[in-house]
Amino acid sequence: MGGIFGAVCSRGIGLDVVTTGLKRLLYRGHDGIGIIGLTDGKFVIKKKPIRSDKALEELASIELTSKVLVGHTRFATHGRPSLENTHPLLDCGGEIAVVGDGIIANYEELKDFLIQKGHSFSSRSDFEVIPHLIEEELKNGEDFTSAFLNTLRKLEGIYAIAVLWSREDKIYGAAMGEPLFIGKGDECFFLSSDIPSLYGFSNEAVIIGQGQALILTPQGYTVLDVKTGNVIEELVSKRVKYPVELIDKAGFPHYMIKEIYEVPEAMLRAIAVVQEKYLNLVAMILHSARDIYIIANGTSLHAGMIAGYYFRDLAKLNAHVISAAEFPFYGLENVSIGTAILAISQSGETGDVLRAIKEAKMRGGVVIGVTNIMGSRLTLESNVYLPIGAGVEMAVPATKTFVATLVVLGMLSHRIGVLRGIIDKSDERAFVERVKALSSTLRRELDKIEKIVEDSVKIFEGWDRCYVSSRGINFPIALEGALKIKETAGLQAEGVETGELRHGPITLVSNGYPVVIIAPYEKEAKASSWKVASSVLEYGGRVVSISPPDVDVVGYHVKIPETTKFLSPIASVLPLQLLAYKLGVARGMPIDHPRALAKAVTA
Ligand code: G6P
Repeated sequence: MGGIFGAVCSRGIGLDVVTTGLKRLLYRGHDGIGIIGLTDGKFVIKKKPIRSDKALEELASIELTSKVLVGHTRFATHGRPSLENTHPLLDCGGEIAVVGDGIIANYEELKDFLIQKGHSFSSRSDFEVIPHLIEEELKNGEDFTSAFLNTLRKLEGIYAIAVLWSREDKIYGAAMGEPLFIGKGDECFFLSSDIPSLYGFSNEAVIIGQGQALILTPQGYTVLDVKTGNVIEELVSKRVKYPVELIDKAGFPHYMIKEIYEVPEAMLRAIAVVQEKYLNLVAMILHSARDIYIIANGTSLHAGMIAGYYFRDLAKLNAHVISAAEFPFYGLENVSIGTAILAISQSGETGDVLRAIKEAKMRGGVVIGVTNIMGSRLTLESNVYLPIGAGVEMAVPATKTFVATLVVLGMLSHRIGVLRGIIDKSDERAFVERVKALSSTLRRELDKIEKIVEDSVKIFEGWDRCYVSSRGINFPIALEGALKIKETAGLQAEGVETGELRHGPITLVSNGYPVVIIAPYEKEAKASSWKVASSVLEYGGRVVSISPPDVDVVGYHVKIPETTKFLSPIASVLPLQLLAYKLGVARGMPIDHPRALAKAVTA
């Protein structure tokens, strides 16, 4: 993710125009601000690789007036937050600049090609290939527009960009999976990553369709089809009408629900952010490790538990999955050379995880980090790490980062399985295709699922406790669902393995006690689970069943898309996230900032 806000005007405008836009885009990235102006054919660049809100405060005192200004708030996916990695990024000649949002998936091969051609790189950002590719095209005699379009045709990934050439008062842009909009002011045309940020600058926002490029000048704009280069005449626009206070939640009442709706996109981003080189390296380390510990806390621990199933089923690898808080008392003394520690933390700042890996490294263990935050201490202190690229998550209850973590862990497990000869390369490819398919099904069906879940809230009326139950690969989802309901809705929710429900917990079930049952995926577990669910009803409980359609279920049925065993945890967790949210709203809870919790417990 990342946020872009720019303007091209017939008169000079001040920096405040761009910083106002960027302030509204902070939800898209918090890892530094970069601003570029163009005056008399020369770039003026201001970069602040510190927390973006602080950076904007510091930039407020700087004087910069220009007819062309572009600003960027970064979400670091490749390259930690630092001066070199902060956008804009330049070509060798310093005449072409880019700011970008998203991920360039094939940047490594493009970078190798450009290095062979004599280009030198000054950052680790994936976006730096863009100005160098354009420079290369210009060397080959192309005009700037063709050089720009040819470059876009070479890029793979999910991204939106703005490009400046110091010889023209123009902004070139493209939307290739990430959003981009044009705003029309009196003397300026604007470019932005969302519609609400244009509030006060333009009354309408022209939508740049996916696969489209644009050229913005002080007089107007042209939109082109990237594939054909043809001008697109029919453009759709929307009124800019969001009240300012809702801008950073894009119209949603809470970050949590906004972020649940971002799950389908986060799944695709997770695929795009994984780099072959590191996936292979991590797979090799785990394949050759003598023993493996997966450590994490809270929601990330539940992702780690699912990774335990993945490792066993796909790669015939047994891993010890354990809370990072418990690790010092359980696994640490067994760590030595030959031990691999897979440390998962979306924030990368959780104290228990960081303390555990420090000790483990001292004993000779190899630490692999999995995190959403580049430049976090986990990225700095692991031997190697995999980003999950979910985009900024503001709500304390983790939703899209959990799903993105599962996608990355699923890809990793498949890669190890291929390396160990347990599964075929085609299984690995099929997994990625299925993630994409599930992402588009969820995009289509999420609001339907939300409505059914909302209706199920009545089952919880008058109750401040409940069970959430499943078995097999979805058992950790029962634990995650219960955690989410505790955090968000303030109910005493307990995650129980469905077989275990009969061994104690069922004694509390009477008078409408709510029990959520997630259909297990494993065939042999299905019949026995519905038997337990029936006995919940017999003892007077009420059941919410989360399962695909066409399955005989007990109680109130929340239908989820049919998918494979390895993706069933993703399909099951979404209704639970929505349920936690709906229960929290119904109970008037502080959804995004639950009492006594923080996004990362660093101490
Ligand atoms: C805190 C949060 C939890 C979160 C856990 C792990 O306890 O309140 O919601 O799951 O930290 O966070 P991490 O950033 O390490 O994944």
